Amino acid sequence: MDNNVARGLKEDFPILKSCTYLDSAATTQKPRQVIDAMSRFYSSQYANIHRGVYKLSQEATMLYEDAHTEVADFIGSEQDEVIFTRNTTESINLLSYTLHEILPKRKEIVLTELEHHSNLVPWQQFAKRHGMKLRFIPLKKNFTLDYGAAEKLISRNTALIAVNHVSNVFGTINDVERLVSLAASKGALSVVDGAQAVPHKRVDVKKLGCDFYAFSGHKMLGPTGIGVLYGKRELLGKMPPFLTGGDMIRSVSFDSAEWNDLPMKFEAGTPHIAGAVGLAEAIRYLQKIGMDEILSWERTLLKAALKQLKGRKGVFIYSPGTEKSSGILSFNLQGVHSHDVASILDERGVCIRAGHHCAMPLMSKLGITGTSRASFYLYNTLEDVKRLVSGIEHAQEVFA
Ligand code: ALA
Repeated sequence: MDNNVARGLKEDFPILKSCTYLDSAATTQKPRQVIDAMSRFYSSQYANIHRGVYKLSQEATMLYEDAHTEVADFIGSEQDEVIFTRNTTESINLLSYTLHEILPKRKEIVLTELEHHSNLVPWQQFAKRHGMKLRFIPLKKNFTLDYGAAEKLISRNTALIAVNHVSNVFGTINDVERLVSLAASKGALSVVDGAQAVPHKRVDVKKLGCDFYAFSGHKMLGPTGIGVLYGKRELLGKMPPFLTGGDMIRSVSFDSAEWNDLPMKFEAGTPHIAGAVGLAEAIRYLQKIGMDEILSWERTLLKAALKQLKGRKGVFIYSPGTEKSSGILSFNLQGVHSHDVASILDERGVCIRAGHHCAMPLMSKLGITGTSRASFYLYNTLEDVKRLVSGIEHAQEVFA
């Protein structure tokens, strides 16, 4: 990819005519192709799934099931190992209510200091319910994880590790393959929060070797309300269901029920069918560009931003460096609250996120209340980076 390609891609996103959007780590904008696929589905293909004998319902069922296949091919899994949820948070909550029956009977869960609340709070609750303890792989000064400490923390006392693949705060790409293999060597299970990874880099869950992997559709050009939980078939088969009701059963009597096959066992009720259709279209869009191209372009944008901002007086940057990161730039301006930076940029039509980024414990470890965060995606251009940098310079002048 280069700047001309990015400019061309931007044309696919109607909303990007009106702003400089640099908040893709929070959620991504949607291309016309995804909007059209969902609109086509509601206009001419819509019916409930797995219930109708009529053609319309059967075709809708096929589209919904094909979306599982599309996701499975994208992450290197089997179709029945892909469960549709609402988002990453729900995928992790699903696990936190069903894993106890298959976890080794041990007392510790290992997380990292870099977790988003969605991969922390469910495990805090889980630990309380099951009398367990959380332990944290520490962050080093260079914004990467301390793998030496991880080697000591992950032990025969560890029942589970739950770690993020890419940090939503710094963009750090963590070596989850190493952590997962460490966990497996000690007989512990592994959950990976891939919300910030799958949209930005090639992910192969079988190669990673993890037991579970969670991500959201809305952060990868898809609609809100559809997320994914990948799980190894053998483990999903042994776990109890999370939600119960329609579609997740094979047979029901007045006293009991038998569970349906995977993935239906974990997809109770009418799901977000149009969301699945939109997500499948989003994946086709991403694949046309290529995940390696996307990551490399994000790094080009990050590099351009870092070149202009690094060493600038009063700018503090929280980044492990381009080669270890996706396209996320967290920073603070001396003497300026992150919300004020975001407001000043907003006056120029530049959208960034400010605050604790749903990682309050990490902020307190850094001794700050928050950061400003610009996050790049495939539709951002070098002109967007210029607008960001000039907005930051302006904020510094205003608060000088
Ligand atoms: N997890 C999202 C973010 O980092 C909402 O902004």
